[in-house]
Amino acid sequence: MKRLRDFFEDLAERWDEQQPIGRHRVLQDLLAPFAAELRAAQAILEVGTGTGALVPCLQERAPAARLISIDLAHAMLRRARQRCPGAMLVQADVHRLPFIHSSCAFDVVVCHNSFPHFADMPAALRELARVLKPAGRMLILHDLSREQVNAIHSSAGPPVQHDLLPPGPEMRQMLVRADFTGVEVQDAKNHYVATGYRRES
Ligand SMILES: C[S@@+](CC[C@H](N)C(=O)[O-])C[C@H]1O[C@@H](n2cnc3c(N)ncnc32)[C@H](O)[C@@H]1O
Repeated sequence: MKRLRDFFEDLAERWDEQQPIGRHRVLQDLLAPFAAELRAAQAILEVGTGTGALVPCLQERAPAARLISIDLAHAMLRRARQRCPGAMLVQADVHRLPFIHSSCAFDVVVCHNSFPHFADMPAALRELARVLKPAGRMLILHDLSREQVNAIHSSAGPPVQHDLLPPGPEMRQMLVRADFTGVEVQDAKNHYVATGYRRES
């Protein structure tokens, strides 16, 4: 985990310049199918915010929500702070979230371009299910196809070369095993979106 964190600490300085121009529009479009849920949400958790590219999009879509964005890498969060001075940013690992009480539960969890990096994906999903409200929505979003994401990671060398997005059926099974219902996976030409609802017990 330390090697992964160090990798992203080093990458923080270069991350934004590696992103395409007009990304804000692309990210808004990625969130568009979830507009109603985001607008109605009281609390949203974003995991792996990096330099906070998605934060303004989430703030626009969910102006009433308490939005907390977490990341493993402090240098990423420092950049996110420059982009979004008022944002709630927390350094945390998705496998051990610092949200203990049910009063902290979230209506929506968003993992944008971060899921493949989770060292133990099933455990991370269980932890995210824990902090979701019953019937809360899990959104795993990528603004590139699975092939593109996996090609970028495979050629990036250690420690991310094996951080691959699973094929649709595998992702579906992982979400179902973590007790999500209504699971949908879109493994499309220009995006990858996996969603589910936390089972109401
Ligand atoms: C590829 S970057 C994406 C950043 C941002 N979402 C974007 O698309 O611009 C992945 C981010 O996930 C974070 N990350 C990786 N593993 C994590 C973990 N276990 N817990 C929290 N954040 C993690 C990394 O530090 C990094 O900032």
